[in-house]
Parts: sequence; C-alpha cells; structure tokens
Amino acid sequence: MNTEIYYFSGTGNSLHAARELRKRIPETEQIPIVSLLDRNIIKTNADTVGFIFPIQLAMAPAPVIEFVKKMDLKSAEYIFAVATRAGSQHRAFIDLENILKKKGKTLDSFFSLNMPSNDPKFEGWKPATQEEIRKLESDIQNKLDSIQEIILKKEKIHEEDTEFITPMPAFPILSIFLPFLSRFYNVEFYADSKCIRCGTCEKVCLSGKVKMIDEKPVWQKDVQCFFCHACLNYCPQHAVQIKSTRLLKSFTEENERYSHPYATIDDIAGEKEL
Ligand SMILES: Cc1cc2nc3c(=O)[nH]c(=O)nc-3n(C[C@H](O)[C@H](O)[C@H](O)COP(=O)(O)O)c2cc1C
Repeated sequence: MNTEIYYFSGTGNSLHAARELRKRIPETEQIPIVSLLDRNIIKTNADTVGFIFPIQLAMAPAPVIEFVKKMDLKSAEYIFAVATRAGSQHRAFIDLENILKKKGKTLDSFFSLNMPSNDPKFEGWKPATQEEIRKLESDIQNKLDSIQEIILKKEKIHEEDTEFITPMPAFPILSIFLPFLSRFYNVEFYADSKCIRCGTCEKVCLSGKVKMIDEKPVWQKDVQCFFCHACLNYCPQHAVQIKSTRLLKSFTEENERYSHPYATIDDIAGEKEL
C-alpha cells in the first residue's frame, strides 16, 4: 500500500491532522494541494489517496474542489477524506462524492475532526484557550487512531455526523442552497495603521492575492481569495482586518487571532512549493 495525502490548510489545523495521519500510515507522502493547483491534470500513482482540508461555509474550500476535479485517480483503489472544522454540519463529502462518481470512483471513507476555529470575524469571538486546545487534541489523537485502523484495513466507513457542535436549522434543505449562498460571501481584507510592512501576509497568502506593492500589502481585485484566513491570523501585529459588508458585520479589529500551535508561517508558506 502506498498512500498520498493531499492537504490544504490556512492556519495549520488540517496540516496538523495530515502530519499526524502520515505518521500512522506507512509509506505515505504528504502533498500540499496549493503547490499543484496551476497544473491542468494532477496524476496520482498511489493506491490509497486522502484529502484533508478545512470546512468553509459548511463546504470544502473552492481550491480543494477544483483540485479534485483535475485529478487523474485511475491508480486509486481507496479514497478517503478528513474535514477539519470548528463544529458545524457541512456538505463537503457530498460534493466530493459527486466529483469522484463522475470519475468512476467512490469516496470510500470520510471523517470530520473538531478543531479550534480560525474565523475571528464574529462579535465576542475568542480563540480556543490552552485548556480547550489540549482537550480537542486528545480527542483528535484518539479519532486519528481509529481513522488509521480504518484506512489500513481499507474499510468503507461513511461516518454519520454526530459530533457537530453547531447544528444548522433544516440542514438537509439548507445545504442544497449553500453553494448559491456562498456566492454572496465576498468579504474584503485590508491592513490597518498597525501594519509594519513585514510582508507576512503576502508570504502566507495561499492564493497569491496579497502582494506587497510600494511596501504595502495590496489584496489584488483580480485574484480569487481562497478564504483560508492565513493573512488575517498570522499577521504579527493583528493589523489585517476583514471589512464589514452589508451582509456581514466584522469584528476582527476587536478580536484576537488563532493559528495552530505547531504550524509556523514557513509551514503555511511552504504549501505553495512542492
Ligand atoms: C471563511 C471560513 C469559514 C469557515 N466556516 C466554517 C463552517 O462553516 N463550519 C465550521 O465548522 N468551521 C468553519 N470554519 C472553521 C475552520 O473550518 C476550522 O477552524 C478549520 O479547522 C481550519 O483549518 P486550517 O487551519 O487547516 O485552515 C471556517 C473558517 C473560515 C476561515
């Protein structure tokens, strides 16, 4: 069995899950999705393929969907997915299953992992405390042990989601409209007067949207944001903010930030390189 784990991570939660799973599965390569996104076709030679990514707006991030669509998965006999999330219900696995079905493949197993939120735009939002992180980490390690066994035995487990923390009203119906609703999520970012022009936001930006121009960060209008929140959470001055829109009031100016304790700026920037 040789395994490839393809991962996408804005603030290190999914990277942590990918690293921990890689340790548990022999002969596993861990490959950042962003590093291959500009290719037309992404061919795997592995017999076991996994995707690990965060949930955004109750779905898989758009670059992950685009990536899986471009994959040549002929060699894959077993495909699994792990979604890291702050705790809501989501439709990511339905979308992945549909893409794989068109390729004559199935999503053999899928799991959700509850991890700290990296989305500080809400009023009164607070990053997870050390105690909360420790508790979540212990649950994560236990769950990854079970996932390891399932993957090694190539069992087909379509996990029923009983571990969500934030239920969504009328989820099965609401989930149908999510792709449409997400089109209205076009928040904008900016750097406030605390910016020291260090360029960290450009360095961690997974989509290439942030460019330092005349030593100031500019979120270029013609580049699609991946909404990974790396620029927001890794800014050492907490100077990167989300602009309020008519649909969404943002409180990032008042709130703290979160990134996974083991994920450095270089780790996130490294996702752009193979
Ligand atoms: C724009 C955005 C939207 C999010 N939407 C959801 C959501 O709908 N449900 C949820 O449980 N978590 C949501 N989250 C939280 C992340 O899924 C969670 O913190 C994840 O583990 C982050 O992983 P990463 O550090 O690998 O990027 C969202 C985060 C961001 C930045």
